[in-house]
Amino acid sequence: MAHSWAVSTSLFFLVSLVQAHGGIDRESIVRQFNLRLNQSNPYSPVQVGNGNFAFGTDITGLQTFLPHNILSSWGWHNSSLPSTPNQTSITDFTGLDWWTHGRLVNYAQPNPAEKDIGQWMIANPHRINLGRIGLWFGGRNVTEEALSQKIQVLDLYEGVISSSFSLNGTTIQVQTVCSSETDTIAVHIKSGLSMTGNLGVFFDFPSGSGKNKFDAPFVGVWNATSNHTTTLKKKRGGASITHVLDATTYIVDVAWEAGAHIHRPDQGTHRYILQPGKGAKSFSFTATFAPQPPRNVGTFEAVKNKATGWWDDYWSSGAFISLPLVKPPAKELQRRIILSQYLLAVNGAGKDPAQESGLVNNGWYGKNHAEMYFWHLAHWTIWDKWSLYDRSIGVYDRFLPSSFERAKKQGYQGARIGKMSDPSGRSAPGEINSLLIWQQPHPMYFAEMEYRRFPTKKTLEKWDHILTGVADFMASYAWFNDTTKVYDLGPPLYPVSENTNPNATVNPTFELAYWRFGLDIASQWKSRQKKPVPTQWRFVKENMAPFPVENGVYVLYEGVRDMWTTPELSEDHPGLLGIYGWLPPDSRLNLATFKATVEKVNQSWNFTASYGWDFPLLAMTAARLGDGEKAVEWLLDPNNQFDAVGMPVGGARVATPYFPASAGLLLAVGMMAGGWDGLEGPIFPKGWDVEVEGFSKAM
Ligand SMILES: *[C@@H]1O[C@H](CO)[C@@H](O)[C@H](O)[C@H]1NC(C)=O
Ligand SMILES: *[C@@H]1O[C@H](CO)[C@@H](O)[C@H](O)[C@H]1NC(C)=O
Ligand SMILES: *[C@@H]1O[C@H](CO)[C@@H](O)[C@H](O)[C@H]1NC(C)=O
Ligand SMILES: *[C@@H]1O[C@H](CO)[C@@H](O)[C@H](O)[C@H]1NC(C)=O
Ligand SMILES: *[C@@H]1O[C@H](CO)[C@@H](O)[C@H](O)[C@H]1NC(C)=O
Ligand SMILES: *[C@@H]1O[C@H](CO)[C@@H](O)[C@H](O)[C@H]1NC(C)=O
Ligand SMILES: *[C@@H]1O[C@H](CO)[C@@H](O)[C@H](O)[C@H]1NC(C)=O
Ligand SMILES: *[C@@H]1O[C@H](CO)[C@@H](O)[C@H](O)[C@H]1NC(C)=O
Ligand SMILES: *[C@@H]1O[C@H](CO)[C@@H](O)[C@H](O)[C@H]1NC(C)=O
Ligand SMILES: *[C@@H]1O[C@H](CO)[C@@H](O)[C@H](O)[C@H]1NC(C)=O
Ligand SMILES: *[C@@H]1O[C@H](CO)[C@@H](O)[C@H](O)[C@H]1NC(C)=O
Repeated sequence: MAHSWAVSTSLFFLVSLVQAHGGIDRESIVRQFNLRLNQSNPYSPVQVGNGNFAFGTDITGLQTFLPHNILSSWGWHNSSLPSTPNQTSITDFTGLDWWTHGRLVNYAQPNPAEKDIGQWMIANPHRINLGRIGLWFGGRNVTEEALSQKIQVLDLYEGVISSSFSLNGTTIQVQTVCSSETDTIAVHIKSGLSMTGNLGVFFDFPSGSGKNKFDAPFVGVWNATSNHTTTLKKKRGGASITHVLDATTYIVDVAWEAGAHIHRPDQGTHRYILQPGKGAKSFSFTATFAPQPPRNVGTFEAVKNKATGWWDDYWSSGAFISLPLVKPPAKELQRRIILSQYLLAVNGAGKDPAQESGLVNNGWYGKNHAEMYFWHLAHWTIWDKWSLYDRSIGVYDRFLPSSFERAKKQGYQGARIGKMSDPSGRSAPGEINSLLIWQQPHPMYFAEMEYRRFPTKKTLEKWDHILTGVADFMASYAWFNDTTKVYDLGPPLYPVSENTNPNATVNPTFELAYWRFGLDIASQWKSRQKKPVPTQWRFVKENMAPFPVENGVYVLYEGVRDMWTTPELSEDHPGLLGIYGWLPPDSRLNLATFKATVEKVNQSWNFTASYGWDFPLLAMTAARLGDGEKAVEWLLDPNNQFDAVGMPVGGARVATPYFPASAGLLLAVGMMAGGWDGLEGPIFPKGWDVEVEGFSKAM
């Protein structure tokens, strides 16, 4: 009896699994794209991480030869404030007043008279590299070239890096894994010979810098050793190292299983050596980074078991797509999809939305950009990965007080969302930072996607005050033009493409459509709650300026001169195409005009200069027009590269990786797989046998 019971339950289990997953063998597809490498790469570390914390490795599975970074959502540092008279506090920063529809509006822009404090506010706080952990070869100067038989495998399905190499005939194996619960690296080292005296681990710590906007590939300053302190405290089976950089303090709690010894050979440095005890041929340790003394995280095995369980769950829940791997373009697209999924769970699922370079290196001092929240987060909603989305979507609520303050200071109603943000929500001074507007309707997009999946009172209440604040700002920002009797956006403003004269930029096509979309969702939100819709929201939406058309095509903004023949205006983001594809169709959209615009962009744009989310945007446009071939062609455009470890190549070496490209790829693929209102997916090239499961429809 017991036997047949076991059989029937396992049959039941199998059947329910198949139903849940529609039968795609996810594990085998994921594992086909495991990384297999044989050398280090300074720009593309192999990483383990948990979304809030990531550890970049060289060929040894640690940071032995290259000081790859350890970045987190919580590790930030302020340099000392300037001592320039009248510029010693951020309250001394006053920005600039610009004429805005007949009145002076204050913008957080660099003011030459307060250059030092302005620059300090741009560069501070900056995200810090928490340290470096590498192999120590008993004081021998070993270089990567001295190693042979180097093999490094990242098992994507388990989130484990296994590195193996030989040094003078002795094989050394290292396993590296990151905890899914704490900011812990767990490491297991195995050697063909006793490690005693000739193999161990070193820890080192840089100071923060704030000197480089793009601190890449390696973050921090390693030779300013007297600007910061580290203190070692030994305990049973471990030690903690406290690192103090000015007002920033954090702890690295190191725990090992067998006997070992840790010490700092040179008090003038921050380098510590951990040596396994007598005769050891294998050695495991964990290193937990935290702002407060962390609790015990358990052994290497315990951390590894939980982490591999987390990754299994990550791959087996939510949506999945299987492309026909016998076709080379499909295989390359599948590779990008799988590696992007891995890298975004490591780099783009933290407490705050990711910086463009995730947790790989620092761009823009480690800060994130509110207009990019859309690209970083929207894909989770389509792929049904809500728990990862939920980690950071609270940013709109957290930053709401500063958004209200910003609008009020400028004489607008409601809440104006900032731009280049640190964890406090302060937006860094900048001309573009203060004049960009397309970040404002993002919360409407997110709220609506959430409501479509969770149509509950709780969802309505969660977003109501946010949408109200933002819609109030949007309605009060739009300016009623007495001559034309329509609402204008700008001047001054910067459109998505950031490449125009802000004082001449009025009524950019994409922003007009997005404003109408946002005000419409905010109004529906009120109706759903049986609350009155502020009349101004609907009035502004209905009376927004028309989309600017010249010679039968939509243009960047109203009155733009020589758009198609001026190089700066026909490169950068082709944002205007976002009105059909990225956004659902506006009732004012003229499809013939739009198709002519697509053709014009196709002929005139300088795609050599395109990068990041431009290609996903183009793919979404092509897909919405029903052209699956073209959509895939855009995603695989020669200018849109993903390197051997899946890192999306940015517009410049220092701005690589550029994760909006990965997140945008998943959004575009998710829309092509799941379709949108009025159209079922999948939309892929004819003859492609595509299997999809679990995608949510886009709007
Ligand atoms: C290292 O890997 C590259 C890329 O797969 C390959 O071309 C090369 O032959 C490998 N080198 C060695 C020494 O195995
Ligand atoms: C940096 O300074 C700002 C302004 O004084 C403060 O709000 C913030 O908390 C500080 N951050 C860190 C990490 O010290
Ligand atoms: C600082 O401000 C005071 C008054 O606000 C002014 O008199 C003084 O000239 C300023 N100093 C500098 C160096 O700008
Ligand atoms: C825009 O106008 C402001 C004055 O309102 C001026 O200070 C600024 O230099 C102008 N910017 C450009 C790029 O013309
Ligand atoms: C270690 O060896 C490399 C290559 O032989 C050499 O370039 C480097 O200067 C050496 N470093 C030290 C600290 O001796
Ligand atoms: C490898 O072995 C050779 C010969 O015994 C020795 O000269 C060399 O120093 C060793 N290299 C390392 C890195 O230990
Ligand atoms: C630290 O290194 C940087 C870059 O290599 C160099 O410019 C600087 O002079 C060094 N500082 C010290 C104190 O050695
Ligand atoms: C180290 O501190 C000194 C003195 O405060 C300062 O001049 C220098 O810029 C600091 N170096 C770094 C890398 O922050
Ligand atoms: C009203 O709109 C017209 C046409 O777009 C424009 O030329 C004019 O400058 C606008 N009026 C003001 C005061 O901005
Ligand atoms: C874009 O241009 C290419 C070649 O220049 C052409 O093959 C394609 O049909 C054009 N149209 C679209 C909508 O991509
Ligand atoms: C296109 O963009 C590339 C990369 O920015 C640039 O080198 C090239 O000059 C541009 N071509 C034209 C025609 O503007």
